[in-house]
Amino acid sequence: MDSTKFENQWNAELYDSKHSFVSELATDLVELLSPKQGECILDLGCGTGHLTYKIASKGAKVMGIDSAPTMIEQARKNYPQLDFDVINAKNLPFTEQFDVVFSNAVLHWIKEAEEVVVGINRALKPGGRFVAEFGGKDNVKAIVTAIYNALQKNNYPVDATLNPWYFPSIGEYGSLLEKHGLQLTFATLFERPTPLEDGQQGMQNWIKMFANSFFSKLPLENQLSILTDIEDYLRPSLYKNGTWFADYRRIRVIAIKL
Ligand code: BEZ
Repeated sequence: MDSTKFENQWNAELYDSKHSFVSELATDLVELLSPKQGECILDLGCGTGHLTYKIASKGAKVMGIDSAPTMIEQARKNYPQLDFDVINAKNLPFTEQFDVVFSNAVLHWIKEAEEVVVGINRALKPGGRFVAEFGGKDNVKAIVTAIYNALQKNNYPVDATLNPWYFPSIGEYGSLLEKHGLQLTFATLFERPTPLEDGQQGMQNWIKMFANSFFSKLPLENQLSILTDIEDYLRPSLYKNGTWFADYRRIRVIAIKL
């Protein structure tokens, strides 16, 4: 990766090579999902398809969807035997088709959470379940704070509308699910400090891949010094023995369609 360039976050090859922890950390989420032989499962935001494959290998019939054509293209290359499609979670076109809607590390990218929940509820058969993990309240708080501090230090205004994420509390998300007919049966919010690949480069890679919207209005020549400032703010808390960590906080939920 070029040392200053902010990447398109849905560069599928880069995502698979440098951020594979996203699907690797979700193995126990698949256990929580507990897919049954023959169940119809929608993997919402399937990325390059690794978890879709894991779920399918338990005997379920899985469809993987993602709004990014680059991800679906890579998923089809990775697992040509599985069913993938480019579909936006805000406009799910399914009605009572799935026993389960599953989602890992995606829903925090969609601020229009209510539209997504309405579509999930419609997609599920009565009695079907929704199993999801994503960023919860105060997820990556240290990183966001460091980005804001670095922007201010370099005389750029902090524009909260550039923050691309939705990180709800359990109470907020549980209420939203119940408002739309999904009964919450399990919810947890927990810290998961996550090691980033590539040693010293880890935090810069993560920021370029996932947090590029904060820098969209900045001249290229200023970006490197801001990245350096962000690292300086974060080093005492998130850099240990040659490895950067992201201060992830995850929310996990299971809800049943009434
Ligand atoms: C997360 O998985 O929590 C996450 C990933 C990228 C950006 C923000 C949060």
